[in-house]
Amino acid sequence: MRLILFFIGFLMACSCKTEKKSINIDEEAVPQRSELSVESQLMLGNRLFSEKTCTTCHAVSSKKVGPSVKEIMHVYREQKGDIVAFLKGEAEPIVDTISAQVDIMQENIDGFLQGVSDEDLKIIANYMLHIDEISMD
Ligand code: HEC
Repeated sequence: MRLILFFIGFLMACSCKTEKKSINIDEEAVPQRSELSVESQLMLGNRLFSEKTCTTCHAVSSKKVGPSVKEIMHVYREQKGDIVAFLKGEAEPIVDTISAQVDIMQENIDGFLQGVSDEDLKIIANYMLHIDEISMD
């Protein structure tokens, strides 16, 4: 019996890896963030990025209301910025410092981002950091 369960587990682990891009996480089945595999963390990050409305203003590679995720990551990598600190309102913007633009993003930080846990902010930041590996465009 144990062997069969092990085998099923093994099969599931394999299929998860090949379906890297499909986002299908059951809300109730979401385990502790730290227990998630790297792939699952990225999938969850992808989901949170749209659920928390980031996608309204940020596309992967083209400018929308805000800079693209790729552009943001380029600047954060170069300047060794801390996205989580920025999203918590503890670090100054470094990508687009035009004040009208900063105000638009600041509204999110002061508003609904207050209700997002540090753990989820880390998951979102990690997703943005790995955008090159997971995006199609
Ligand atoms: C209503 C539009 C809007 C939404 C929604 C939005 N952003 Fe932004 N974002 C902006 C604009 C505009 C900028 C450019 C100003 C700036 O860089 O601070 C920006 C900049 C950023 C930056 C770069 C900050 C810097 O250092 O300059 C990050 C990181 C970021 N957004 C993450 C997010 C995440 C994560 C979400 C979702 C939780 C989100 N944004 C939702 C408009 C938005």
